[in-house]
Amino acid sequence: MSDTTAPSGGAAAPIVRAEGLTKTHRGEGAPVHAVRGVDLTVRPGEFVAVTGPSGAGKSTLLHLIGGLQRPDSGKLWLDGQRVDEYREARWAVLRRRSIGVVFQFFNLVSNLTVADNVELPALLASLPRSRPRVPRRTSRRARPRRPREVHAR
Ligand SMILES: Nc1ncnc2c1ncn2[C@@H]1O[C@H](COP(=O)(O)OP(=O)(O)OP(=O)(O)O)[C@@H](O)[C@H]1O
Ligand SMILES: [Mg+2]
Repeated sequence: MSDTTAPSGGAAAPIVRAEGLTKTHRGEGAPVHAVRGVDLTVRPGEFVAVTGPSGAGKSTLLHLIGGLQRPDSGKLWLDGQRVDEYREARWAVLRRRSIGVVFQFFNLVSNLTVADNVELPALLASLPRSRPRVPRRTSRRARPRRPREVHAR
């Protein structure tokens, strides 16, 4: 098995694959073992909800998958690329091009509209301004989809 490409299964190749992800927060007090050996596979088009009680480590897991925090151990592939060993500059490009995060506490740029906040990564990536990047109105209402649930304890 290659160390840089995720192992492929029978179905579509995973968009996210994690093996044994761990993260311990070390602050002032006792260490907090927020993520302890998470294995996770998400395939393209899948809609997954991570559920669990407050403090179970949901946000920490999403921060690891989104490249906002680094795991202490474990492996992570995004779209087939082994990313857990990426340096910060490479993560910055990957986050700008391929990852969207809606934060628990918003983290929006306060003097921009919501649409402008959504468009910001496209602006930073210098996408052409010839067409609106975010449709201001949608003609069809999206059909609600039920997520696959991953429970954190
Ligand atoms: N930067 C940090 N430093 C120290 N401890 C942290 C840090 N971030 C999170 N923790 C601790 O790690 C544990 C998991 O936190 P996390 O925010 O991932 O939980 P959560 O499941 O998202 O909770 P909630 O449902 O309240 O959002 C908690 O005990 C939290 O206090
Ligand atoms: Mg949270």
